[in-house]
Amino acid sequence: MNYSERKLLGSEIRSALAFFQPSAATILRHSAISSSHPLTGAFFGVRKGNRGLRSEKIPGATFLGITSSSRQQAMGSNERPNPDRLAVVTGANKGIGLETARQLASHGVTVILTARDEKRGTDAVESLHQVGFSNVVFHQLDVRDPASVASLAHFIQNQFGKLDILVNNAGASGVVVDVEGLKALNIDPESWLSGKATNIVQAVIRQDNEDAVTCLDTNYYGVKRVTEALLPVLMRSTSGARIVNVSSLRSELKRMPNESIRNQLNDIDNLNEEKIEKLLDGFLEDLKNGTLEAGGWPMMLPSYSVSKTVLNAYTRVLAKRYPDMCINCVHPGYVKTDINWNTGVLATEEGAKGPVMLALLPNGGPSGCYFDQTTMAEY
Ligand SMILES: NC(=O)c1ccc[n+]([C@@H]2O[C@H](COP(=O)([O-])OP(=O)(O)OC[C@H]3O[C@@H](n4cnc5c(N)ncnc54)[C@H](OP(=O)(O)O)[C@@H]3O)[C@@H](O)[C@H]2O)c1
Repeated sequence: MNYSERKLLGSEIRSALAFFQPSAATILRHSAISSSHPLTGAFFGVRKGNRGLRSEKIPGATFLGITSSSRQQAMGSNERPNPDRLAVVTGANKGIGLETARQLASHGVTVILTARDEKRGTDAVESLHQVGFSNVVFHQLDVRDPASVASLAHFIQNQFGKLDILVNNAGASGVVVDVEGLKALNIDPESWLSGKATNIVQAVIRQDNEDAVTCLDTNYYGVKRVTEALLPVLMRSTSGARIVNVSSLRSELKRMPNESIRNQLNDIDNLNEEKIEKLLDGFLEDLKNGTLEAGGWPMMLPSYSVSKTVLNAYTRVLAKRYPDMCINCVHPGYVKTDINWNTGVLATEEGAKGPVMLALLPNGGPSGCYFDQTTMAEY
């Protein structure tokens, strides 16, 4: 499918999704499970200290208290929960991730809300339960910790045997900011987004090597780590797997001053993880040597921008490798959240719309594409 065909399909999908409401069946399922959802009872109840493995102790008796029809909806013939669609959202204890989890749950998707901090994650799940979304369960996930990632994969494999949607949302800014100083600068959103404020913000933003490593390890390697661990269960999706990588407009290739780097990242026929990671090594080297500008790297939030640029490249590599899935990346908009020190202008409800639209794409929908909120855009 070429770019204009995909663009057309994208607009059709947008119109379709504008009318996308929970179906009668979904509403029925919600009401059937609202008070004693087997997933909630089974998994949420064992969350303390849970990294997944303890959930194996869940007794079959957990399911006995509910009606046989809702039990049938929740379980397959092999007697394990079998929701129609199961999603994982990373970094979902707050911000766009939490709202993405909420919107997916409102569409009848069973959501594994993950967070690196157990208390913050379980509080977030509790907040969704309180507004009626009992189809949300918690699992700890620190995308930087391979053991935590393996534990989530093990949990999904054991309890569900498949996964339909992965929203790689967790992100780190890679900088330390003097928040009061930033507020005092009173930068207008246009200057912030266009990059015109690049020089002004240097006075209040500090980035060292460690921050940069954290940023790359969260925004690129973390996504890769989680995706690779969950691909085996995604491949078992019967509804068609979807991967949504939450990127940023800082990722756009036109913002990368170095033409050679731009060309390498755009050469999708020859691109692979090894080439992407070689570029990242070069970036860290230039950062260490104080030669970022000379190296042609973006100077506005350098490690964040680079991490999201390579995330987009990775999205394209994956989409090419797994043509049966819909794998896309999305700039959620300039949303008021902690990651931008609450300088954003959109509400999280708006910011989650793009990720949710891509998570719910119908079969045959676009793949390997970049979206600016809900509109397909140029990489
Ligand atoms: N807000 C915007 O305007 C904007 C624009 C473009 C792109 N984005 C992207 O949108 C995504 C969500 O960000 P947000 O705006 O919602 O910011 P946010 O409210 O600060 O949320 C970031 C989330 O990522 C989590 N996280 C960070 N490191 C993690 C790790 N190692 N393992 C697991 N989770 C981790 C955070 O958890 P803790 O609470 O534990 O720190 C938090 O839940 C990010 O990828 C961001 O880059 C946002």
